[in-house]
Amino acid sequence: MDKKISVKVCLGTTCFVMGSSNLQELIETVPAKYGDRVEVTGVPCLGLCSMDWEFSKAPYVKVDDDVIKEATVEKVLNAIDAKMKK
Ligand code: FES
Repeated sequence: MDKKISVKVCLGTTCFVMGSSNLQELIETVPAKYGDRVEVTGVPCLGLCSMDWEFSKAPYVKVDDDVIKEATVEKVLNAIDAKMKK
C-alpha cells in the first residue's frame, strides 16, 4: 500500500499572522479531494520562521519532508499532485 502523504499546516503565531488561517480550509478540502491518501494536520510552530532571516517566507506548510514557503492553498495542492504522480 502506498504511504500516506502527510501535510502539516503551521498554525504557529508567525505563520498565522502571515496568513495560515487561509490554509485551514485544506484540513477539510484535501480529505474531500484525495480521501485517505493524504493526511492534513494543523501543527504548532515548525521552527522554520525563526530560521528565516527576513520573517517573510511564512506561512509554511510541510508536504512530507518538503517545505513550502509562502504557502497558498494552490501551492499546497500542486505539491500534493506532484507527489501523487511519483
Ligand atoms: S510559526 Fe510557522 S514556522 Fe514558526
